[in-house]
Amino acid sequence: METNLPVVLPEHIGIIMDGNGRWAKKRGLPRTAGHKEGAANFRRIARYCSSIGIRYLTVYAFSTENWSRPALEIRALLGLFQEYLEESIRDFAHDDIQVRFIGDTSAFPQKLQDLIQKTKELCQGRTGMVLNIAMNYGGRTEIVQAAQALAKKVKDGVLLPEEITQELFSQQLYTAGQPDPDLIIRPSGENRISNFLLWQSAYSEYVIMDVLWPDFTPEDLNAALWEYTKRSRRFGGV
Ligand code: FPP
Repeated sequence: METNLPVVLPEHIGIIMDGNGRWAKKRGLPRTAGHKEGAANFRRIARYCSSIGIRYLTVYAFSTENWSRPALEIRALLGLFQEYLEESIRDFAHDDIQVRFIGDTSAFPQKLQDLIQKTKELCQGRTGMVLNIAMNYGGRTEIVQAAQALAKKVKDGVLLPEEITQELFSQQLYTAGQPDPDLIIRPSGENRISNFLLWQSAYSEYVIMDVLWPDFTPEDLNAALWEYTKRSRRFGGV
């Protein structure tokens, strides 16, 4: 068990909260029970990241592809978002956490959209860790939307095609103004990106861990941080 922390911490961590279904299956429970545990762990780990001084945390809660899951599972997930967001808002106030949402949240039920709006308002003026919750998020959709926004500017005559730079492109993304993730953690052992922060993760270090998300502890996070410090990040240089 890793309880010590390295001196140098990543500024931005991304987490793919994977393995809820398998966690439940292992216990003979419905998949939704795994999501419930996963949601509780989301709060725990977000608060832990804030407590150790992480500046940005992005968690993958619902992808654009997750709509293809059975209606019952989607309904349960939406219910959990509602319940845990309400509770988290209270908790996160103590930690001064700034909650933001990335993804097309307009697709969610009105009640959830209202809560998302309320959360944004409550977080105004906070200065602590930025917590991006990716909901109805897809990296490819995000990139296409950025391309469309820039194409429109070109069409309107306010931008020349040769003025489009990586920086300008980044400014069209949900994460505009934020640093790219240094470290992306994927519990549950799967070796996939799954459409998560495709543009932003160009030089991120990936740490895949053999633990299911509901079982993922602060000690696991510390172990990922130590693994990160061992990597030599060269950003394509030597
Ligand atoms: C992937 O595990 C997990 C999800 C699709 C849902 C993640 C959502 C939460 C943890 C709730 C977060 C709550 C808030 C308030 C943001 P999986 O179901 O694909 O697991 P499996 O691969 O084992 O089937």
